[in-house]
Parts: sequence; structure tokens; C-alpha cells
Amino acid sequence: MRLLSLASLFSLGYAASQQVLRPENTDGFRVFQSQHSDHAIRIRQQDETICAAGSAQYTGWLDIGPVHLFFWYFESQNDPVNDPLTLWMTGGPGGSSMIGLFEEVGPCLINKDGNSTRYNPFGWSRNSSMLFVDQPVDVGFSYLDEGFDLPGDSASAAVDMHRFLQLFISEVFPQHLNSSFHLSGESYAGKYIPALGTQIVKQNKLYPNEPQVQLRSCLVGDGYMSPKDSAFGYWETLCTTNPGVAEPVFNKTRCDFMAANMPRCMEVMDICIRNPDPAICNVASKVCWDGVVSLYDNEAEFKGGRNRFDITHPCEYDNICYIEAAWIQEYLNTPKIWDALSPPKQIKLYNITSDRISNSFQKTADLETSTDDQVTYLLQNQVHYLAYQGNLDLACNTAGNLRWANSLVWKGQAEFASKSLKPWKSVVAATGKEEVVGTMKEVRVRTSDDAEIESRFAIVTVDNAGHFLPQDRPDIAVDLMTRWITGASFD
Ligand SMILES: *[C@@H]1O[C@H](CO)[C@@H](O)[C@H](O)[C@H]1NC(C)=O
Ligand SMILES: *[C@@H]1O[C@H](CO)[C@@H](O)[C@H](O)[C@H]1NC(C)=O
Ligand SMILES: *[C@@H]1O[C@H](CO)[C@@H](O)[C@H](O)[C@H]1NC(C)=O
Ligand SMILES: *[C@@H]1O[C@H](CO)[C@@H](O)[C@H](O)[C@H]1NC(C)=O
Ligand SMILES: *[C@@H]1O[C@H](CO)[C@@H](O)[C@H](O)[C@H]1NC(C)=O
Repeated sequence: MRLLSLASLFSLGYAASQQVLRPENTDGFRVFQSQHSDHAIRIRQQDETICAAGSAQYTGWLDIGPVHLFFWYFESQNDPVNDPLTLWMTGGPGGSSMIGLFEEVGPCLINKDGNSTRYNPFGWSRNSSMLFVDQPVDVGFSYLDEGFDLPGDSASAAVDMHRFLQLFISEVFPQHLNSSFHLSGESYAGKYIPALGTQIVKQNKLYPNEPQVQLRSCLVGDGYMSPKDSAFGYWETLCTTNPGVAEPVFNKTRCDFMAANMPRCMEVMDICIRNPDPAICNVASKVCWDGVVSLYDNEAEFKGGRNRFDITHPCEYDNICYIEAAWIQEYLNTPKIWDALSPPKQIKLYNITSDRISNSFQKTADLETSTDDQVTYLLQNQVHYLAYQGNLDLACNTAGNLRWANSLVWKGQAEFASKSLKPWKSVVAATGKEEVVGTMKEVRVRTSDDAEIESRFAIVTVDNAGHFLPQDRPDIAVDLMTRWITGASFD
């Protein structure tokens, strides 16, 4: 998607757990140099003055050769030792994960003044430690040394991210070596997450003596798992009242035009998926754009235009459509933040999106191909998968992801496809009452005789929420997240 005061250094507890690593101090950072490779981590503890988080927080860069990935880590506010660790990745390609942090699921949210934050009572660090990473490299505060090529697809981004996670849990926060680990994110993370999950499982198998990331599940909000199905879902989202609107957004003329073009769009996308050559996939993408997608998207993504992330609201700010993005960008460029984070001289300015990454991805077929094989692989390896959806989203719409989920080929397919969506309830903060908030269906399937546990596959939708579901309905989002990572049901 095209968006899609130096704190007192470490607490005693933290420093004590790091003794063996002989960290050095340079410029207020602790540096951890890997004993095995040229990998290193620079890390600083931060405090509430830059993010009103309610628990310990750290920022820094992980250096993997020429790749330098920025992270912001928050301990769980509940039980940092025993609670799981969850990674968050914002989509794009090219979107900074600071969007997720300061606008959606982080423990602090950006204020209107673009100069401060407030505590978020619905932050996802309530019951899990949370790690936000700007990735692929070049996004946000992450940077690449000169003379090296940027990643152009989710698989190569996943290689860097897997190394990052291995180092993070083995050398920076070894208390997480045995933590249950979850991959979360939204939008284009619907491609990053299956790719990274697959990389983790494969590397764990290939190198059993290296640090193992204990991946338990993926939870993907309005994910771009299947560009083809997302295009298909444009019709239902714009031409029916199914998203939860009183009248369809488009009139019959436009809907007829889209319907007539849909079969050809599907056919060429299939050809691209079978032959993921950028030349073929770019043509397929153009057929779908001209015949289906552009009818809405051409009128979207500028202030006052349509909003691809919520069919009921206009776009209030270019590209990302939400004004919070402007406040975050402003905030992350203030002297207060630069003093606290100390970005190295290679970084001139924080930008919430990286055009270079989005251009680099456009040169490959990553934007068109599907993640089916990866998600099937994850389920076969007992990694649970949740697709949660804001029903007002168009870009990665519910109709398309439901179609994708039903057509995913694996042992659970027949059972999953046979089920209908059922209402689910959550306590709505504004009323304090349990109310129906959306629909869900799920299956739990033992994929093979030697599988130790059942694999859980679910789709959960939320009404009156768009692409940025946790921003629109934070109370519901945190309930959904906590239920999922603790294995609780939605019934
Ligand atoms: C989540 O954290 C709260 C607050 O610490 C705690 O009361 C609750 O039991 C935790 N929930 C789970 C499922 O661990
Ligand atoms: C931003 O906040 C800092 C204190 O955190 C204050 O000194 C500064 O004046 C503020 N800047 C603006 C433009 O409000
Ligand atoms: C992780 O688990 C292993 C095996 O149970 C144990 O030996 C090790 O001490 C644990 N590590 C941490 C950091 O808890
Ligand atoms: C349908 O909607 C389009 C775009 O809003 C408009 O230009 C067109 O005139 C409409 N057609 C009819 C028949 O109302
Ligand atoms: C961030 O990148 C966008 C897209 O390239 C550009 O239009 C904008 O000017 C940049 N913002 C800043 C603050 O440099």
C-alpha cells in the first residue's frame, strides 16, 4: 500500500542481566557487540518525558553490517518477565512503525501540539512487552550505509528482521530468550509478517543451536496478504452496504463498470501470481487499477479527497489521510526527541514514509504476489494466524481478506470455509457494557499427527472501524489483541 534529557542509563536490574556482555558506553549508549559476528546494538533507556508509557522503555539501533534498524522497546506494564514479546510493524511499504506506536497501539499517543504525548490506557504493552521497529531499512530512523542496495521485497526485509530479533532476545534482553513471541502489524505488514514468520521458523529448524525466536502467532490488522483478493473486495466494499454503511458508496454506473472489469483483473493477477515476474505483475496491476481500483483511488489520498482507509470519512492529510501522521513527524523532529534518541549523523531528518523503499518495492513483484504459501507453512508449523479487520477499510478490505482466508489451501480450509461469521462481543469503554462489536470465525486444527498443538486460524472483524482499527476503536483492539495472545476465545 502507498500508505500504505538523556535518561538515567540503565536500571540496576537491567544492567545486572547484561554482565556477561561487557557493554561499553559511547555517547550515552550501551553497545553490545555480538561475539559471533559484526552485529552490534546501541541502546539507551528513555523516560516518560518523551513517551508517557507507564513502563520501562529503550531506544536504539541494531547494526547488521551496513543495515541499521531503529527500535523502540517497551516492557510489559503487567509482568515483564513472564508476559510475551510482541513485534509491531507498520506497512507501506515505507511506513514508519512510529505510526503504530504514536497513533494506534503504543503506550503513549501523540498530542495535537506535535510536541508531547499522553498515556494510552489501551496500549498493547498492557499485557505484552512491545517492540516497534522501523523497517525495512531506510524507513523512519533506520538507515543504510552508502553504496549498498535497499531491500526490494518482503523476503529480504525478513532476513534483516530475523537477525535483529535473534540479537535482541539473545544479547540485549536475554530474559526474552524463552518468551512467547508474536508478530503484529497492519496493512503491508500482511506481507512482511508471513515472510518474517516463515524466515523465523525456517532458521530455527536450520540452526537449532542458534538463538531461537519462539514464534507463537501472527496477528495482522487489515493486512495486504492477497493483493488480488483486496482488488476483488473493492466491489463489495463500494457497491453494497456490507461494510456497515446506510447506502453503497458508489452508484450503479461505477459498480457496473467495476463488475465488468473484475474477471479480467482476476485472470491477469492469477497469471502474475503463477509467474511473479515484475514485468508481468506490473501489467496485471495496471489492468486492475484501470478497471477497478482507480475509480476510488484516483479520487483519494489528498486532503479533502476520498479516504482509502475509511470509506465514510474524507482524507484529512496527504497520503496517509490522518493528521496524526503530521503531528508524529513534527514531534520526532523536535530537539527534545533528537537529544533523547541521538540519531547518528547519517540521519538528517525523520520522515514518516520512505519513498525510496516504496520505489524499491515497486521494481519487484512484491506488491502483487500473495502470501498463501507462507501462511500455509506457518499454520503447518503450529504458528497461529489472525487476520483482524476494520470493516470500513477499503485498501485491505474485509470482503477481500475473507475471500482470501476461505481460499487458503491447508488442512483447515474445508472447515473454515464451511463456517459463517458470527457476532462477537467486547466491553465498550464508553458505555462500560458488553456489546456486539463485529463478527468472527475460527478453526483450531491439528495439521499433522506429530503436531504438538492445534493451529488456530481466525478472522475477526470490527464495525465502525477503518484500516487503522486500533486508532478508531482502541478499547476493542486491545481486548482483541490480549485475547488472541493468551489463547482466549472470541465467543
Ligand atoms: C493483564 O494485565 C492486567 C494488569 O496487570 C492483569 O490484571 C491481567 O490479569 C493481565 N491479563 C492477562 C491475561 O495476563
Ligand atoms: C515543546 O515542549 C517543550 C517542553 O517539553 C517546550 O520547552 C517547548 O517550548 C515546546 N515547543 C512548542 C513549540 O510548544
Ligand atoms: C530458557 O530455557 C532454558 C531451558 O528451559 C533454560 O535453561 C534457560 O535458563 C532459560 N533462559 C532464560 C533466560 O530464562
Ligand atoms: C455516478 O457517480 C459518478 C462519480 O460520483 C458521477 O460522475 C456520475 O455522474 C454518477 N452517475 C449517475 C448515473 O448518477
Ligand atoms: C517526507 O517524504 C515525503 C515523500 O517523499 C516528502 O514529500 C516530504 O517533504 C518529506 N518530509 C520532510 C519533512 O522532509
